[in-house]
Amino acid sequence: MTGSESTFGVSTHKGISMAIDEINKAGGINGKKISLKSYDDQGQAAEAVTIVTKLITQDKVSLILGEVASSRSIAAGTVAQQYKIPMLSPSSTNPKVTQVGDQIFRVCFIDPFQGAVMARFAINNLKLKKAAVFRDIKADYSMGLANFFVEEYKKMGGEVVADVSYSGGDMDFKSQLTSIKSKNPDVLFVPGYYTEVGLVARQARELGLKAVLLGGDGWDSEKLTEIGGDAILGGYFSNHYSHEDQSPVVQNFVAQFKARYGEVPSGLAAQGYDAAMVAADAMKRAKEMTPRGFRDALAETKNFQGVTGMITINEQRNAVKPAVVLKVVGPQKFSYVTTINP
Ligand code: PHE
Repeated sequence: MTGSESTFGVSTHKGISMAIDEINKAGGINGKKISLKSYDDQGQAAEAVTIVTKLITQDKVSLILGEVASSRSIAAGTVAQQYKIPMLSPSSTNPKVTQVGDQIFRVCFIDPFQGAVMARFAINNLKLKKAAVFRDIKADYSMGLANFFVEEYKKMGGEVVADVSYSGGDMDFKSQLTSIKSKNPDVLFVPGYYTEVGLVARQARELGLKAVLLGGDGWDSEKLTEIGGDAILGGYFSNHYSHEDQSPVVQNFVAQFKARYGEVPSGLAAQGYDAAMVAADAMKRAKEMTPRGFRDALAETKNFQGVTGMITINEQRNAVKPAVVLKVVGPQKFSYVTTINP
């Protein structure tokens, strides 16, 4: 909830809180109310480990929702796995997250799919076949997503003319962007988090780099356009849902969220809401009201109608779902472009 990805935590927490209130208002789980305990890990993996240990050993929680950023979910997941407390990530997309063990689940798609989505979008929709990649060496999410994009892009006949890196927290990207510019790419894929992405966009345009900017769900923040200004307009990114989706499930959620918080829910808020709802559904179905019972019921989640789509937890404890591509069209405005199915 603080640090350079603070909007991820804040948005997710809003979605989760709304879901928990809704569940409790409707009577809770077999007559028992869910109590929600939240801590801020400040965007630090070490802090995520401390917090999850505290949630388990002091607060005695029976299920954990989180984290958002994959590196933090991997770190925290090892603790949950060790104590055998089920953990459900709303939106960590790196494959390694659920590979930590049989206690770790997620309600989102994974990055081999997300990377392929943006490669296909670049080639099929934009008809752009010369790409550069600019990745965050410090984030498992960014490294994985970059690799999966490159793999699919090349397979589809695209050429990757540059593949360079930065380090999360950097503020000056000019030397890498200068070298990227010399290769003349049509698209620049930046699978990072919004703070760096915004700065990269600004500096790229300052240097006269004209490539279309592309990214992943890490762009999903109201701060993206605040930091990136006009430079990020016209960029495209893959995400978990669009608030413009006219289906009643989405529109009810959007209306309810707006009434409660006075803002349009981001993909993170929707994923947070769905994660809490899936957890509650598992708790209701559980054969015993224990972490073990909840874990087993989570593993059996099938065709749960979420705001972000139909959620079925597969053998690898991941959800298989379509992705949407959004275009950055104005300050805090991301408009729906297309849906890409697995
Ligand atoms: N998918 C990102 C990760 O794994 C986190 C994220 C999800 C960021 C949704 C923004 C929106 O690190």
